[in-house]
Amino acid sequence: MTTASRRLYRYRTFRSVPATLLRVAESVSATHHSVGWFVVPRRRSPARPAKKHNRLVRTPSSLLRASMMIRYEHNQAITDSQFVDLLGRSTLAERRPVDDAKAIAAMLQHGNLLCTAWAGERLVGLARSVTDFEYCCYLSDLAVDASYQKQGSGRELIRVTQSRLGGRTKLILLAAPTAVEYYPRLGFEAHRSAWLIPASRPVK
Ligand SMILES: CC(C)(COP(=O)(O)OP(=O)(O)OC[C@H]1O[C@@H](n2cnc3c(N)ncnc32)[C@H](O)[C@@H]1OP(=O)(O)O)[C@@H](O)C(=O)NCCC(=O)NCCS
Repeated sequence: MTTASRRLYRYRTFRSVPATLLRVAESVSATHHSVGWFVVPRRRSPARPAKKHNRLVRTPSSLLRASMMIRYEHNQAITDSQFVDLLGRSTLAERRPVDDAKAIAAMLQHGNLLCTAWAGERLVGLARSVTDFEYCCYLSDLAVDASYQKQGSGRELIRVTQSRLGGRTKLILLAAPTAVEYYPRLGFEAHRSAWLIPASRPVK
C-alpha cells in the first residue's frame, strides 16, 4: 500500500466513524436515556386508558333490529292469528277481544283500512281503521310490537293511514290509558264533546 492510498483508507474509515456513532446514538436514545453516568432504558409511557363503553349498550339482536328496514303497507291482508299475535306483542291484547275468534275475524273483515309495518316477513305494527275515506276515519287499533316501539313506527302508521284519506277526513280515536300522552305529541287534540255508550247499555 502506498502512502497515498494508506491516507485515503484512513480518511474513509475515520470519516464514517462519526456518522456511525450518530446512528447508534439515535437508536439508543429512542429506547434509553442517561441518568448521571448510566444509560438506562426509558420508562414506557403509560398505556392509554381503555375507552369507556358507549352508554348505549347494544346486544346483537337489538343491532339487528335497528339495522332492519321497516316496510309500510296499506291493505295488505293479514291472518287472524297474525293479528292476535301482534296484539299480544304490543300489549294491546289486554284491551282487545283476542279470545273471541268471531270478533277478531269481524274486525279484520269489516275494518276497511289496514296499514301494516313489516320487518322482513314479520308483522311488527298495524293501524286498523273504519272509514268512509272522505269525512271521518275511526282509527280503532294502533299497535306496535314492543321490541320496535319508540322508533317511529306508530307515527308512520298514522301517516300512511292519513295518506289514504281524502284531504277533509278527520281521524278519530280513543286512546288507551298508556297512550294518553302519545297522541298529543303527534298533533291530536282532545275533544271535550266526544261520547260513547257501552254495548251492554241499550239506548234509553
Ligand atoms: C302507542 C304506540 C302505538 C306508539 O307506537 P311507537 O312506534 O312506539 O311510537 P313512535 O315511535 O311513533 O313515537 C312517536 C313519539 O311518541 C313518543 N311515545 C311513544 N310512545 C309513547 C307513549 N305511550 N306515551 C307518550 N309518548 C310516547 C315517542 O318517544 C316519540 O317521541 P319523539 O317524537 O320525541 O321521538 C305503541 O307504543 C304501542 O303499540 N303501545 C301499546 C298499544 C297501545 O297502547 N296502542 C294505542 C292504542 S289507542
